Amino acid sequence: MSVQIDPRGELRHFLTTEGLDPRLLGRILDTAESFAGVLGKSVKTVPLLRGRTVVNLFFESSTRTRTTFELAAKRLSADVLNIAVDTTTTKGESLLDMLRNLQAMQADMFVVRHPQSGAAEYFARHVDPGVAVLNAGDGWHAHPTQAMLDAFTIRRHKGAFEPLRIAIVGDIRHSRVARSQIHAFNALGAGEVRVIAPDTLLPADIDTLGARVYNDLNAGLRDADVVIALRLQRERMQGALLPGESEYFRHYGLTESRLRGAHPEAIVMHPGPINRGVEIDSALADGPRSVILDQVTNGIAVRMAVMTMVLGVQPDTAREAS
Ligand code: CP
Repeated sequence: MSVQIDPRGELRHFLTTEGLDPRLLGRILDTAESFAGVLGKSVKTVPLLRGRTVVNLFFESSTRTRTTFELAAKRLSADVLNIAVDTTTTKGESLLDMLRNLQAMQADMFVVRHPQSGAAEYFARHVDPGVAVLNAGDGWHAHPTQAMLDAFTIRRHKGAFEPLRIAIVGDIRHSRVARSQIHAFNALGAGEVRVIAPDTLLPADIDTLGARVYNDLNAGLRDADVVIALRLQRERMQGALLPGESEYFRHYGLTESRLRGAHPEAIVMHPGPINRGVEIDSALADGPRSVILDQVTNGIAVRMAVMTMVLGVQPDTAREAS
């Protein structure tokens, strides 16, 4: 049994989309849908996590993930502590000691972003019973709430996953988002998940992930219903994996004209932050096909869903609240 699932098969932590029961993934989306209804009202808060304390523990920078986790917790009436950990000011304290001290303040949930793969699971294995850990991105490994907010956005725009061809373009090798997306989209029944990248930006285990691989952008985009651009993660690259950004844009940059080979109603997504003119053209990022800002908005409802589920607040309760 995985550390993120309790003996009843319920979500105890949320660390990865890999191997998760499709019914659990579907429940996250359905619960998020009920919270999206709450967020559309003039009073956007519900008392489901009143009296609970959520600690945002970010060892890496974040704009979207940290703030939408914070907003999600506040919409659920939880108390929120934001801790941006600057490794130069931690005074040598171990991760475990930091965790124990924060737990001593009766934290109920840790939202963890860390540059090391496996860091969120390490936290999950060391927290007290009843305390939940949510992975907000660990190294190259996983970013499960990003994948679920992407799935939620796709379902809202396209309906059922079964007929969809979903193309993920760019730096797959260093992308925790791509890994979590591939696992989630396949589990949710997507017709085909494609990755499009030069060989230097594909991970060594790409053949085991469940995606069809394309080196050629035009071939990979053909008839795609959903096109997801990924950022070039220069900060994680070791050595020269690319000739240069303009050369990369010429071969793999998404533009309106490149999208002509995709389905005429294809949507364009990007988890952010965007490098305009590197992986995506501004006209496309800001154009009518783009649902990039919807992704950000949907992150709040999806994170509310996951926060309630790991603390055992029933989806029915959430529906009643809406
Ligand atoms: N998509 C994403 O993880 O963005 P942030 O780094 O801003 O959180």
